[in-house]
Amino acid sequence: MNSIIIGGAGYIGSHVVFELLNQGHQVTVFDNLSTGSRKNVPASATFIQGDILDEVALQSAYQSSNFDAVFHFAALKAAGDSMIDPGLFAKQNISGSINVLNAMVHNGVKNIIFSSSAAVYGYPKYNPIDEKHPTDPINFYGFTKLEIEKLLKWYSQLKCIRFAALRYFNAAGYDPRGRITELERNCANLLPIVMETAMGLREEVLVFGNDYDTPDGTGVRDYIHVTDLATAHIKAMKYLMIENKDLTVNLGTGIGYSVLEMITLAKDITKRKIPFEITDRRPGDSAELIATSKIANQILNWEPEYSELETILQSMWKVYNN
Ligand SMILES: NC(=O)c1ccc[n+]([C@@H]2O[C@H](COP(=O)([O-])OP(=O)(O)OC[C@H]3O[C@@H](n4cnc5c(N)ncnc54)[C@H](O)[C@@H]3O)[C@@H](O)[C@H]2O)c1
Repeated sequence: MNSIIIGGAGYIGSHVVFELLNQGHQVTVFDNLSTGSRKNVPASATFIQGDILDEVALQSAYQSSNFDAVFHFAALKAAGDSMIDPGLFAKQNISGSINVLNAMVHNGVKNIIFSSSAAVYGYPKYNPIDEKHPTDPINFYGFTKLEIEKLLKWYSQLKCIRFAALRYFNAAGYDPRGRITELERNCANLLPIVMETAMGLREEVLVFGNDYDTPDGTGVRDYIHVTDLATAHIKAMKYLMIENKDLTVNLGTGIGYSVLEMITLAKDITKRKIPFEITDRRPGDSAELIATSKIANQILNWEPEYSELETILQSMWKVYNN
């Protein structure tokens, strides 16, 4: 298959690029390098530097080859920032995705694999969360992802675009084969912050609240290895091509770990000090967010292989420690 990977120089996108190439697919990466790195893109992929808000650049990228599928990773993802600057998030995430879809229609590309998020659900009414759980985002970032999912449904109905909306829980870890060595830039996620603290690049990890209704009072999340996400993307692409049906699925492990558990295990693995400070809860955080990925398992025959916590943390430490 021949695919264009929008945002393919970033953290998750680059892992998908390597897996696609590994399986013999043809790959073009389109990225503005705002948070991604050129070094994440292997020589065997074509690279086009461009922005999804630039419709002309996007059109010409689509016209550079006959693509079977689009993988769309390009977005702003810090939920906290989205509450401060919703206009920026609306433009980058929603308008950018409209451009991606319109260029597909214009150039006859029929399949899109879209990076959605657990943030579409909002506060969990039950755990583990399945795809039937109500979608009621509590931050603007989650709202943008849900709006894009709605756009995908309309483009499917009106323009015969087939889509896979993959709702990731917490992406973590690095390529077990060590092919990706660039650190995530300005990342607000827990594990990169834990790693940066172990490296001495930060003084401490801020733990937002220890009075949640969880075993140790800190927030519990479901961490999925980025290579497992990559495998799911390729299975989703094949599903769209073969079944010609749309797909919306969770991607997680079904197991939750608390912030303090993560810090303790990271200390063991890195053999470094990881100071932390308990501070106030953040608005919009919930006690526990855990996925059930039964549908991905049944429909895509997908199962996490690398998502044990030790594997996640060891693969991260290898990259950060270098
Ligand atoms: N990391 C997670 O835990 C997580 C969880 C759920 C969903 N997601 C979603 O997955 C996707 C990828 O996340 P990531 O962690 O790899 O982030 P990332 O920031 O590492 O990757 C995003 C990539 O898109 C590029 N990009 C951003 N804006 C662009 C634009 N306007 N035009 C062209 N390229 C642009 C960036 O340079 C970067 O290479 C995002 O859509 C994010 O919302 C991530």
